[in-house]
Amino acid sequence: MARTVYYTATSLDGFLADEGHSLEWLFRSDIDPDGAFAHEPFLAGVGALLMGSSTYRWVLGHLEATGEPWTYEEPTWVLTSKAASGATLRRPDGADVRFVDGDVVAVHAEAAQAAGDRDLWVVGGGGVAAEVAAADLLDEVMVSIAPVTLGAGAPLLPSRRRLELIETTRNRDFVCARYAVRGPEPEAAPAALPDL
Ligand SMILES: NC(=O)c1ccc[n+]([C@@H]2O[C@H](COP(=O)([O-])OP(=O)(O)OC[C@H]3O[C@@H](n4cnc5c(N)ncnc54)[C@H](OP(=O)(O)O)[C@@H]3O)[C@@H](O)[C@H]2O)c1
Repeated sequence: MARTVYYTATSLDGFLADEGHSLEWLFRSDIDPDGAFAHEPFLAGVGALLMGSSTYRWVLGHLEATGEPWTYEEPTWVLTSKAASGATLRRPDGADVRFVDGDVVAVHAEAAQAAGDRDLWVVGGGGVAAEVAAADLLDEVMVSIAPVTLGAGAPLLPSRRRLELIETTRNRDFVCARYAVRGPEPEAAPAALPDL
């Protein structure tokens, strides 16, 4: 059974990208590409990918800017409301990219089945990961925390969830942490701040 893993890099203050969708802050940090939580070793255990349309557009823009090809051989589901009208976004030659709309439970079931014994990678963004978590379908969160704060941007996981820390390590500039997702974190009554 595939685990569903939200694997991403984040700023220390919990943003995936800055307000202009830039990841320059991330690429300025040093990482060992063969070390803990690095992309290639993680990808070796991945059987399918799930992402939102902004993340997909960022990936395509990055590949077009750098001249790199689409490297994912695994099937990739991209959530976009445009799929409801039968529209598709641009798809790189040879890429198995499926544009889907709406019900994340059904999309997850299809993607997890395709992943087989390997993991389903929730690439992001945070809203998509939160949708999967809200449906109680997110098993793990793996984050590499860059030594930078951004103040604003695309949030890591905009959802109240209780996690259990199951692994910590370091990869050069990054603190790496793996969590099991345990369930909703109960809403708390607002703290009464006295007028002083
Ligand atoms: N630091 C990292 O490693 C990392 C990882 C991932 C992403 N990122 C970056 O973080 C940013 C993420 O941005 P984000 O969180 O705003 O966006 P996102 O999750 O990538 O995409 C959000 C979009 O996905 C579509 N969508 C989401 N759920 C849907 C559903 N259930 N049905 C249909 N469509 C759905 C909607 O777009 P439509 O308008 O198409 O309907 C929505 O506006 C991007 O800049 C990305 O590059 C960074």
